[in-house]
Amino acid sequence: MNIGIDKISFFTPHLCLDMAELAEARNVDPNKYLIGIGQSKMAVIPPTQDVVSMAANAADKILTPEDKEQIDMVLFATESGIDNSKSGAVYLQRLLGLKHQVRVVELKQACYTATAAIHFAHGHIAMNPDSKVLVIGADNARYGLATKGEPTQGGGAVAMLISRDPQILAIQDDATYWADDVMDFWRPLGFDEALVDGKYSTNVYLEFFKHVFKEYQDNTGFDISKFDAMLFHLPYTKEGFKALKIAIEDADPTVAARLTHEFENVRRYSNQIGNLYTGSLYLGLLSLLENSTDLKAGMRLGLYSYGSGAQGEFYSGLLRPGFDQNIEHEAFQKVLDARKQLSVAEYEDVYNSRIKISDKTRKLDISTDPAKFVFAGVEDYQRQYVVK
Ligand code: COA
Repeated sequence: MNIGIDKISFFTPHLCLDMAELAEARNVDPNKYLIGIGQSKMAVIPPTQDVVSMAANAADKILTPEDKEQIDMVLFATESGIDNSKSGAVYLQRLLGLKHQVRVVELKQACYTATAAIHFAHGHIAMNPDSKVLVIGADNARYGLATKGEPTQGGGAVAMLISRDPQILAIQDDATYWADDVMDFWRPLGFDEALVDGKYSTNVYLEFFKHVFKEYQDNTGFDISKFDAMLFHLPYTKEGFKALKIAIEDADPTVAARLTHEFENVRRYSNQIGNLYTGSLYLGLLSLLENSTDLKAGMRLGLYSYGSGAQGEFYSGLLRPGFDQNIEHEAFQKVLDARKQLSVAEYEDVYNSRIKISDKTRKLDISTDPAKFVFAGVEDYQRQYVVK
């Protein structure tokens, strides 16, 4: 039975920042951000969006009444959780109008967990072929103002419907994974911003990729020529490019050129959004689907997932017949182009205006946020969501 990604959609808020302007404000050569890190724009998350509202905005675009009837599990992957106890998934049951006969869980292992969720969903559907599982990867990638991590912020949510006979990608049973307890990136309890040893993290990411990709090749007998595109978790797009260079170092030049060409389609949206944490790898899938003109049914995509702390995994998926029937060429580019570009001062104001843990009751102005689902503030520490 083929099981995999039946539908995929993405949401990022209506605000962004130009990386060249940020570089100027921080007295940095703009090419460091544009070329050295590989980011041209960054999503700015207003206080009226959090992981729940962003997830609802992403999922709402793809779910039909029939899907809602069949979904019996919601797996919410995030490392920007909004509660120490209640899962982000249970808010979605109400906001999206899902039935009550549904299992709702939040999962955490840094940026890796949407991949874990897809595999858990795969197992669930293998046992319950008529089920559908909603997998969410939603995050607000947030570092301190004027820190080294600042140019690698971003945010948004990817929603994927996992089912049998999927329209888009059949997940293969070929995953290799590798875990080790390291401190490359973490966010202690009570901290709003992540702490990161960026150079170390990049090295761990690349070392884990070597481990899992070698084991994958040993297990399957497939070499790099078997892949039609390689997708990577993209904390910043240059990091994925470094992993791609490792993957293709011994490849035939035609294969290397093809994979390098497709990687530009993979990273196009991330380049204009920044880090998405859990959703990043799957934004790359959407970006490839909407921007490549060379994809065909049956092609094999390689996916490298990484979550600091750290977990790495490599697996593959095969494009399904008719994978492109609901994919509109460059559709999301139009959404990105329509965003409002903030000045650096406006971005800093937005950055500083989010709800704090200590806010017991605070109402947010939702009138300037054009999204359907918004976070309206807290009342007695209870989060308030509004459907416009
Ligand atoms: N033109 C072109 N490239 C330039 C440049 C210029 N003027 N100035 C610098 N660069 C290049 C550097 O050579 C370097 O390239 P390399 O990585 O290929 O060596 C790159 O830009 C970054 O410069 P560097 O000095 O290493 O940057 P930094 O110390 O400010 O750190 C990050 C950059 C990405 C490590 C930092 O932003 C970070 O830690 N981000 C968080 C990453 C993260 O979240 N990781 C965990 C999740 S997986």
